[in-house]
Amino acid sequence: MDSLKFSTVLLSLLSLAIITQAQDPTFLYNNCPNTTTFTRNSTYQANLNLLLSSLSSNATRNNINGFYNVSAGQDPDAVYGMFLCRGDVSNSVCRNCVNFAAKDVLEKCPIEKVAMIWYDECELRYSNRNIFSTVDQDFTLFMMSPNNVTVQPDRFNQLVATTINDIAARAASAPSGAKKFAVQQMNYTGIQKLYTLVQCTPDLSTPDCSRCLEGAISKLGNCCNRKQGGRVIFPSCYFRYELYEFYNATAAAEAAPPPPPVALSPPPASGPETIRKGKGGVSTVLIIAILIPVTVALVLFCLGFCFLSRRAKRNKYYAQENDVGNEITNVESLQFDLSSIQEATNHFSADNKLGEGGFGEVYKGTLPNGQAIAVKRLSKGSGQGAAEFKNEVVLVAKLQHRNLVRLFGFCLEGDEKILVYEFVPNKSLDYFLFDPEKQGLLDWSKRYKIIGGIARGLLYLHEDSRLRIIHRDLKASNILLDGDMNAKVSDFGMARIFGVDQTQGCTSRIVGTYGYMSPEYAMHGQFSVKSDAYSFGVLILEIISGKKNSSFYQTGGAADLASYAWKHWRDGTPLEVMDPTLADTYSRNEVIRCIHIGLLCVQEDPASRPPMATVVLLLNSYSITLPLPQEPAFFLHSRTDQGSIPSKEFFADKSKSNAVPYSGDEGSITEVYPR
Ligand SMILES: *[C@@H]1O[C@H](CO)[C@@H](O)[C@H](O)[C@H]1NC(C)=O
Ligand SMILES: *[C@@H]1O[C@H](CO)[C@@H](O)[C@H](O)[C@H]1NC(C)=O
Ligand SMILES: *[C@@H]1O[C@H](CO)[C@@H](O)[C@H](O)[C@H]1NC(C)=O
Ligand SMILES: *[C@@H]1O[C@H](CO)[C@@H](O)[C@H](O)[C@H]1NC(C)=O
Ligand SMILES: *[C@@H]1O[C@H](CO)[C@@H](O)[C@H](O)[C@H]1NC(C)=O
Ligand SMILES: *[C@@H]1O[C@H](CO)[C@@H](O)[C@H](O)[C@H]1NC(C)=O
Ligand SMILES: *[C@@H]1O[C@H](CO)[C@@H](O)[C@H](O)[C@H]1NC(C)=O
Repeated sequence: MDSLKFSTVLLSLLSLAIITQAQDPTFLYNNCPNTTTFTRNSTYQANLNLLLSSLSSNATRNNINGFYNVSAGQDPDAVYGMFLCRGDVSNSVCRNCVNFAAKDVLEKCPIEKVAMIWYDECELRYSNRNIFSTVDQDFTLFMMSPNNVTVQPDRFNQLVATTINDIAARAASAPSGAKKFAVQQMNYTGIQKLYTLVQCTPDLSTPDCSRCLEGAISKLGNCCNRKQGGRVIFPSCYFRYELYEFYNATAAAEAAPPPPPVALSPPPASGPETIRKGKGGVSTVLIIAILIPVTVALVLFCLGFCFLSRRAKRNKYYAQENDVGNEITNVESLQFDLSSIQEATNHFSADNKLGEGGFGEVYKGTLPNGQAIAVKRLSKGSGQGAAEFKNEVVLVAKLQHRNLVRLFGFCLEGDEKILVYEFVPNKSLDYFLFDPEKQGLLDWSKRYKIIGGIARGLLYLHEDSRLRIIHRDLKASNILLDGDMNAKVSDFGMARIFGVDQTQGCTSRIVGTYGYMSPEYAMHGQFSVKSDAYSFGVLILEIISGKKNSSFYQTGGAADLASYAWKHWRDGTPLEVMDPTLADTYSRNEVIRCIHIGLLCVQEDPASRPPMATVVLLLNSYSITLPLPQEPAFFLHSRTDQGSIPSKEFFADKSKSNAVPYSGDEGSITEVYPR
């Protein structure tokens, strides 16, 4: 709830700031996921500048109907962009808004490849993917008046829904080339009138515009129940209604003539009426209620912070988010044809193969628009039917965070099940970390950033996304690195997609990698956010030491990396654990703090491991005193004592550094601890 208040305050401040300069458009919101970025002075940036100046210069033309789309550059650096002005605004207001947006967006989204920015008067967006003539509903902005209607609220709701539905049909059926825009004024009470407006970007076809607006209207109940004003805004279309005249009715009537009067079947005492009233009404304070599906880092941090103190209140907020987040992404928009995947990967050629994981082989591919993708061809034997598979993919595709590898979609044809991911250029963490030649490339600041990135990605999976995802197989080879060496967690949600039973947080099929698995998960199949915390602790220790947890089995001495680190900690020599190649670059405080956090995470008692929200907080703060870590579990001992598995399998180091010993499919270690 705090973050909600925070956005309200922020927005009010912004509105105030804007009112004082009458010329500037009224800023509403911007969305630029920090997941794909460009580097400064890159070709992409040059193309983007070209695009923005072309949008601005074309906004001065008078014959463009308040909309223009243009692309700049060639793939893979092509930029596609468009602006849309509200149907009733004059050319000069439109021009002014677009010019302002073109500068403002670069301040708000300086390095993001994909950005959208909204004002009352216009919208501007661009992307590295072709966004023309396609319905984009991947992001939703809800805005609502804080005031409730008091007279006949149910009739009001119905009046709003009926009117918006009606004008949506009218806007969608506008001929191609014309504005897809409509307004309508209705009597509500003797003195109050309802003003409604809908608009699509005119590059959409009639059915697409209808579909987009239907999607928006279906959110009415979520955002605007009994509210005096409200908006649902998608990138491709939006509606707005208020009890005051927020558009210029004269200009609107010129832009989109109202239809001949027809029976609307409205509630009694209402009906279409001629437009006459001048500008009036007080600007309503609007609240940005919920943003889906991208969680802005700011909100994320705030939520992480709130988590510690305000667990109960936060849940309420999420309950609300859950209600509305359900059908934002539709299945069709995620589905790829097998033929296009085959083309992209050169028919799964061996040259394109990136590696092999527990769930199948991974190939690199390139889509016709130049977008690089990673294609995971799932091995047969998934427990999922087609419908469940699609459901899970849609859910997992909604998880978007800059420290998670993005799932673009899937392909399901015949017995092929394929997942299509964002391609992350710099391979995986283990490729650098455990290679004596390459580990020097990871200096301390990079490693520290990677630790922070993994923690934030996990926090999002555990707490801040709409699903609670427990990764279950966190390890160095599942941490991918982007061009700037930012960590991106991969392979999350696989248990769901693959259909591994996970009903009570207790499973008979263990999906994971020995060495990273918490004792309670490995032995009893009990998984929770705390088993991920354990794997995270092992990862931190590996990142600091540059040694594989599994290598300790061979070297003898300490049972494993965790015990080795703990012994040094107890003896007051924690820095002995550190990778000697860090010698010149490390910050003593940061290293010691990270070792400390790592040791807290690998404690035997799951309850004493910190949740990821706390880990993120600890990584960002030097003033918090950490508890002393308990001695880690002597995992190996208790396992070998049981004698149920050969210990060499246990720390399976088959020197395929990228191989994923998901035991689920091989059956060798899996069923050892059934429950
Ligand atoms: C986005 O990512 C860049 C580099 O990866 C980082 O410097 C920047 O702080 C991030 N922005 C936000 C809002 O998180
Ligand atoms: C980008 O180019 C400008 C001039 O062309 C130069 O001043 C600036 O340092 C460059 N920035 C980077 C990050 O290379
Ligand atoms: C409009 O955009 C085109 C590119 O699409 C560009 O060539 C032209 O200069 C722009 N400006 C005007 C005023 O047409
Ligand atoms: C605008 O988009 C359409 C497709 O909807 C495309 O055919 C056209 O070339 C685009 N205009 C420009 C100037 O790129
Ligand atoms: C509007 O109604 C909701 C419940 O329906 C209530 O929580 C909220 O406080 C009301 N707002 C105002 C301004 O009265
Ligand atoms: C509304 O639009 C009309 C014609 O487009 C214009 O003459 C008038 O000044 C506008 N009114 C306001 C209040 O902007
Ligand atoms: C709407 O209300 C006005 C009075 O404010 C009235 O003159 C008009 O007839 C009403 N329109 C309809 C369709 O009921």
